[in-house]
Amino acid sequence: MRTVHALRGAVAALAAFLIVGCAPEQDGWRLTNITGLMPELTFTLTDHTGEAATGEDFRGGPVLMYFGYTHCPDVCPTTLATVRSALGQLNNEASQVTVLFVTVDPERDTRGALSRYVNAFGPQFVGLRGKPSQLKDLTRRYRVVYNRDKPDADGDYLVAHSSALFVFDREGRPRLVARPDDDAEAIASDLSRLLADT
Ligand code: NI
Repeated sequence: MRTVHALRGAVAALAAFLIVGCAPEQDGWRLTNITGLMPELTFTLTDHTGEAATGEDFRGGPVLMYFGYTHCPDVCPTTLATVRSALGQLNNEASQVTVLFVTVDPERDTRGALSRYVNAFGPQFVGLRGKPSQLKDLTRRYRVVYNRDKPDADGDYLVAHSSALFVFDREGRPRLVARPDDDAEAIASDLSRLLADT
């Protein structure tokens, strides 16, 4: 557990550095404005239905992207529940928003496991998995880190991972990042602004 917490601390410190180091103006956004600081949404993975999926497939509406794993005991389910609650605060515009959940544990997160997990959160949630090289390409692109902990006697293990929730606009441009302490209201408020921006 100690290594997991130490890595979490390092991940948080790195995220804080990246954001405080050269943040653009907040301009009234509730989440952290990262416009121009990250590359546009591009990847090649497989979705939870088994179909090939690329970043370009999700142009047209705001996209949230989060990296985690279905066995996560705390941060992943909490974050996805917060996102679901944020979508619930939007009116029927919520259907234009897609939430991408990229597993950093593709070994245990089979297509079936991923499918059950995202379906429990709602129709806008899409599970994504890839080969190690595909996952590496994407996590490097967004400076996301993850590290598999040593398995316990039952073979169970934790995977420490970055907790940033990235928000892209309908053109696939990175605009905002939410951290675990950002609440559903803040996410809903900024998504409304993005949805109104044509
Ligand atoms: Ni997690």
